[in-house]
Amino acid sequence: MQETTVTSWDQGWAPLYDAADTMRMMQDYLDFYAGLVTPGTASLLDLGCGTGSVTVAVAEAMRAHHPDAPALGIDLAPAMIDIAAARDGSIGWAVGDICDPPVTDRYDLVICCFHTLQLLPDDAALGQALAAARRAMAPGARLAFDIYQPNLDFLKMAAAGGLEPGRIVRRFPDRTGRELIVREEAVCDPDTLTYSGTWFLHDAETDARLPVDPMVQTLRQIYPEDLARHMAATGLAMVERYGDLDGSNFTPDSKRQVVICAPA
Ligand SMILES: C[S@@+](CC[C@H](N)C(=O)[O-])C[C@H]1O[C@@H](n2cnc3c(N)ncnc32)[C@H](O)[C@@H]1O
Repeated sequence: MQETTVTSWDQGWAPLYDAADTMRMMQDYLDFYAGLVTPGTASLLDLGCGTGSVTVAVAEAMRAHHPDAPALGIDLAPAMIDIAAARDGSIGWAVGDICDPPVTDRYDLVICCFHTLQLLPDDAALGQALAAARRAMAPGARLAFDIYQPNLDFLKMAAAGGLEPGRIVRRFPDRTGRELIVREEAVCDPDTLTYSGTWFLHDAETDARLPVDPMVQTLRQIYPEDLARHMAATGLAMVERYGDLDGSNFTPDSKRQVVICAPA
């Protein structure tokens, strides 16, 4: 069997995304992003929308005020966009790169959820994505995103080879109720602490590997000071920052950097 490696969520993995998404407090995500909607929010852009669960929740909150308000979700993975489109046909969905998104309109609320900015390959791409998000903002608009705060203890341990090869990182049922597990082979660059995990899908009961191409997800680290530099270069001002989607205070030990910004 010729095996290819899928980069990020696409093809065989996309239909598993929602079921495998067991590690975040989804309700906190939905509440946080939907909570950004104000009576003045009349258009929504979701960059890296995935299967659209957050997009739909925010669009519904917005449409309580403006029933016909436009919403658009953009993702690089066609298979994720297909699932999003099946979830809600009233929203516009488009395949595209958030570094150069297929967007001509301006939006009152622009979001980029669940560490999507860390999936970009380098600093230049991060700068391009923030600049594109900035261009897509209407006057008075806000941009909100969340990324992980670098967990140096974990990352240094991973870089030193401290993670068990093939460790189980997800366990979830498929549509038929069959229990699946994801085993991960991880590499962490000792200099940059960029974390690259390759996922393999297994049957939980037999541990047999299933015929889904492995998927590699590479997460760059974005430190608060680097983020501030990128935002300043892009003409974005941070107006609020939290340590997680529950709205907890941001501290140096917070799990996440949850940022709301406005044009500077
Ligand atoms: C971790 S998922 C988050 C999806 C969604 N925002 C959510 O909260 O469920 C990251 C998503 O970003 C997409 N993605 C990665 N790089 C991208 C890029 N350069 N442009 C557009 N989408 C991208 C992936 O295909 C994937 O659907």
